[in-house]
Amino acid sequence: MDQNRTFPLNAWYAAAWCHEVGKREPLARTICNNKIVFWRKPDGSVAALEDACWHRQLPLSMGSIEDGEVVCLYHGLAFNCEGKCTRMPSQDKLNPKAQVRAYPVVEKYRLVWIWPGDPALADANLIPDFHWNDDPEWAGDGETLRAKCDYRLFLDNLMDLTHETFVHATSIGNTHVADTPMTTTQNENKVTSSRWMTDIDAPPFWRTQLDKPGNVDRWQIIEFEPPCTIILDVGVALTGTGAPEGDRSHGVNGRVLNTITPETDNTCMYFWSLVRNYKLRDQSLTTLLREANGNIFLEDLVVVEAQQIMLDEDKNRPLHNLNIDEGSMRARRLIDDMIAKETVNASS
Ligand code: FES
Ligand SMILES: [Fe+2]
Repeated sequence: MDQNRTFPLNAWYAAAWCHEVGKREPLARTICNNKIVFWRKPDGSVAALEDACWHRQLPLSMGSIEDGEVVCLYHGLAFNCEGKCTRMPSQDKLNPKAQVRAYPVVEKYRLVWIWPGDPALADANLIPDFHWNDDPEWAGDGETLRAKCDYRLFLDNLMDLTHETFVHATSIGNTHVADTPMTTTQNENKVTSSRWMTDIDAPPFWRTQLDKPGNVDRWQIIEFEPPCTIILDVGVALTGTGAPEGDRSHGVNGRVLNTITPETDNTCMYFWSLVRNYKLRDQSLTTLLREANGNIFLEDLVVVEAQQIMLDEDKNRPLHNLNIDEGSMRARRLIDDMIAKETVNASS
């Protein structure tokens, strides 16, 4: 086992949006350094195999899908969803050892989730709660951001939204974010960082969403679930309408659902969606918000990829911590705990 892993293997990771996996073309993805091929069987369910042919190691994703099985481009070996070879050229008797690894895979909340670790531990109940993606009380859409960085740099970025003041000054940031301290708590394996900014001017993005003049109360409640999922509960309401006391019905409420899947040690796929509980049937607003949020995240991408270049240049460059980093420090500790547990179990 790789002792220097930065991610646990016994976890569900988002691998693709459901619409990206089809019945006709195989889809190649790298998840936690595992090369995996995905496709959809005739009954519509998703299959996931190691993306390497048993015969001569050609990626199976270069092949085709025939009768619900993946067929290698090179010599035509066919593999079913369990990874068992069902056809060999020029021979009727199949070598029973011709088998590639099959992965547990589940579709839920508009995403395809894969478990790269011990299949015996793959419990679908452990998939992070992204129910907002399916909930008729909420509307929204998302995208995937490909990033050349350690996935934890994005976790740091999301656990501390102070950077909005500086990185997103034209949209969701203003000085009130950086001026207001956060409160961080931990409950078993979840870390929550909260920031309430009361009686402030709204930043441009939220002023447009609220569409009313006057000072606002703004909240950012960040919840981390290891190894790589963060739900942001965000919004604003006019000051004096009771939001800090628990009544947010006079404001605009959003959730940003984020799950950042490590592909390799220093590349990742960041699946996000922005959902709202107002103007549910306004498709143009859905598109506008997706594009606006996508552009905001591109500002983050520039930062995290530049960090990664520095860290690659010199692996000994230290990361120092401020008060604002408490949430990300705790998040990283929970990830380290998961990895340590796997390492102990593997060696015992
Ligand atoms: S390499 Fe796949 S069939 Fe030969
Ligand atoms: Fe950001």
